Formats: sequence, structure tokens, C-alpha cells
Amino acid sequence: MKRPKPRLKKRLKQRPKRRRLRAKRQTIVMRVDVLTLFPRMFESPLGHSILKRAQDVGLVQIALADIRDFAADSYRKVDDKPYGGGPGMVMMPGPVFDCFEHVQKLSPEKGRVILLTPQGQRFDQKKALALSKEKRLILITGKYEGFDERIRIGLDAEQISIGDYVLNGGELAAMVIIDAVVRLLPGALGDEDSTKDDSFSEGLLEYPQYTRPEIFRDMKVPDILLSGDHAKIAEWRCQQALERTKKWRPDLLGDNKKE
Ligand code: ADE
Repeated sequence: MKRPKPRLKKRLKQRPKRRRLRAKRQTIVMRVDVLTLFPRMFESPLGHSILKRAQDVGLVQIALADIRDFAADSYRKVDDKPYGGGPGMVMMPGPVFDCFEHVQKLSPEKGRVILLTPQGQRFDQKKALALSKEKRLILITGKYEGFDERIRIGLDAEQISIGDYVLNGGELAAMVIIDAVVRLLPGALGDEDSTKDDSFSEGLLEYPQYTRPEIFRDMKVPDILLSGDHAKIAEWRCQQALERTKKWRPDLLGDNKKE
């Protein structure tokens, strides 16, 4: 026989309580402008989790500008064939400059201008930290085979790449940067300490983490983590972080030695 469902009020009471995020209003720490041909690509990443919350509480303001709105013709043309021949299409300088000049006027802060391109300097945690100190970032993304060189020169833009591979455009790269930077803004995660132990923040990978249950499919949480001895735990974590870095990312230790 089917059991009757408990009344709604009772059912709501039985539901596990979700941890409520404190939605304290914050002063704006950063403004990010993104110049793109595909503003709708940003809807989902910006509309969830920490990025959404950071915007909702006013910690960061993220504005999207559609480069195509600044095209000079009714076809909304923003790219053309490269001079000298070759495959693909190149982003024209006109619409990008006009879009940039419009965007720049939207806030008194001049902003750090960044062009997303595989030719750029490799993005890493150190760069994310440096960018998180800025009041304003202006990210310029492009599709197709690249930008007319006068965009980089004329806008005096710094170039950033998120890795040695070629994406179809800079949009995903811009989202990666926004995600990595916004989580470093003070108050973005709620818990001020939570980025301290992140992988790379001390030049090492993160130590192994465990949560309940204590034993899962015959795999047990290391005794030290259950010992309550915080000094020993800290020492163990430090040693684990070092061992994993040596094993999985020895290049990180090599880079540290050079600095
Ligand atoms: N655009 C295309 N590929 C890219 C990359 N790897 N990083 C940044 N922008 C890009």
C-alpha cells in the first residue's frame, strides 16, 4: 500500500537545510567590461554560483558590449579578409575601436585593457591575483583568425592567453579570467580564508582533502586528519602539497627556484 505523503509544511521541515549565503551588500570593488561578438555566451557562467552572487551583492559589476553594434554597415560586418592573402577572416579595427571608446566612457576608471589571444602571456594564479587588485578590467575578445594588429597597438592592450592551444574565440578565455579573478575579490567567497590554500596560491598544488564518510569503499581518511592535532595536520598538509607538486607538477618547483 502506498504511504500517504506528509503534509507540505512537514515535508519542507524534513528537507535538509541549505547553507544560506549571506547576501550582504558590498561596495563595488571592480568593474569588468567585456567586448564581444557573442554576449549571450556569457549568460550561463555569469548567472550562476559565485559569479552571480558577487554581482548580486554589488562586489563586481560586469558589463557586456556587443562589438557588432558598432559595425559601420547594415550587414553588421566586423571582420574581413587579411591583406596579403591567407585563410580566414580578421577582426576589423573600426568596430572594435568604436565599441571600446563607447565602453570606456561608461566609467571614470581608465581600466586595464586586455586582448584575449593565444599570442598573449600565459594566464596563471599570479596574474589572477595581480588583476584582482585592479579597479577595472576591459577584456576584448575576438572570433575568427585574429585581430587587425592596429587594435593591439592603438588601444595599447596587454595580451593574455589561457594556454597553448587555440580556441574558436576569446570568449571562453575571458570567462576563465573573470572566474579566477572574481573569486579573489575580498568577500567573494564569504570565507576570507578560502583562497589561501588553493592550488598555486603558494606556488604548490593543494594538499588532499577528505570529507564524510570516514571510510568509503574500503578507503579510509588518513588518521592524522582525525587526530585533532592542528599543528601536525598543518605539517602533514604542507608535506603532501610538496610531494604532489614534485610528482605531478615539478615545473612549478623549478619556476620557484628561478624567482
Ligand atoms: N583565443 C583563442 N585562443 C585563445 C587562448 N588560448 N587564450 C586566449 N584567447 C584565445
